[in-house]
Amino acid sequence: MIDHNNRNIDYLRISVTDRCNLRCRYCMPEGISTLPMKDILTFEEIRAVVEQAAELGLRHFRLTGGEPTVRIGLSILIREIRSVPGIEKVSMTTNGILLEKMLPDLISAGLDSVNISLDTMNREKYLEITGTDGLETVLNSVRAACSAGLKVKVNAVSLFSDEENIRSLIDLARELPVDVRFIEMMPVGYGRQFPGISHNELMKILRNLYPGMTKDDRVHGFGPAVYYRIPGYRGSVGLISAIHRKFCSSCNRVRLTSRGFLKTCLCYSDGADLREILRADMPEEEKKRMLRESMREAILRKPDAHCFESPEAMTENAAMNAIGG
Ligand code: GTP
Ligand code: 5AD
Ligand code: SF4
Repeated sequence: MIDHNNRNIDYLRISVTDRCNLRCRYCMPEGISTLPMKDILTFEEIRAVVEQAAELGLRHFRLTGGEPTVRIGLSILIREIRSVPGIEKVSMTTNGILLEKMLPDLISAGLDSVNISLDTMNREKYLEITGTDGLETVLNSVRAACSAGLKVKVNAVSLFSDEENIRSLIDLARELPVDVRFIEMMPVGYGRQFPGISHNELMKILRNLYPGMTKDDRVHGFGPAVYYRIPGYRGSVGLISAIHRKFCSSCNRVRLTSRGFLKTCLCYSDGADLREILRADMPEEEKKRMLRESMREAILRKPDAHCFESPEAMTENAAMNAIGG
């Protein structure tokens, strides 16, 4: 559906849980509390939202968390979403810890692609960031997902200017057909305490490390990443630069939190409480109509752009695990 800024909103990110099996310092540090299960949308409720989103013209659905793979029965949900008329793609953003074992089920349920979060190729640094000695496990998942034929991207939040770290992540794109994407840290939730490195600085480092790097204009996904090719590499390098290359004018997405709130921008708390409608006592047809109309109204009010450059103007105070990235 088209919003008031003429943006085509055709992508819904669905956070299926706010729980996670890692404790990344900038996302969900030790000690953070999570919602009781009764507050989280059931698969039936998520499906009802997806049906009405599809009616409004949304076509691409991405499962996020917390960590989506910790939600029991995830492949059942993927199959449910896939069976809704009009759905073109279902993908998932995961930390990759549980992925390898789940791949056969996820793929047979209809998963199209995975984005796997991995900020460093250094085992000690990985442990320091996530609280878990899981680097090898994640790398096994990356390889297994490629072998299984899924489209795979690796997401690294740009935490370090250390060239060795950047180079070893990009080496994955030489070895495997994966896109390696760097994400500029956004001042959302605990991310505010970890500024990371600016993508102006990262771009200088990349140009220096890879003088033959050229712009890659092929379409890789449905998101805001800008891609580059390095001669001889199987995958591309991507940059998601929300701060230094604001992409809000071409934003195509909204987000459903695990407690059923439709968020229209990462930066603001505005949106629609769909759970209230889903759990209200009313005839099914009326419920569908109300879901659709409150989604439509919220999307029409979608903010023009984020205000991360002046965090005091942000109205979103939730942590990333509650939003889904
Ligand atoms: P592709 O379709 O594969 O390109 O996926 P994607 O980039 O849309 O999804 P992914 O979950 O991999 O997101 C990677 C990073 O980009 C996460 O850190 C997100 O928070 C960030 N991101 C995704 N969408 C937006 C957005 O609309 N605005 C901002 N500011 N950041 C976003
Ligand atoms: N800024 C940018 N990316 C973030 N992520 C989590 N918190 C932030 C933040 N504040 C990333 C995760 C994962 C994706 C879903 O979002 O590392 O790759
Ligand atoms: Fe879209 Fe908001 Fe992200 Fe900008 S910050 S791209 S408007 S979700």
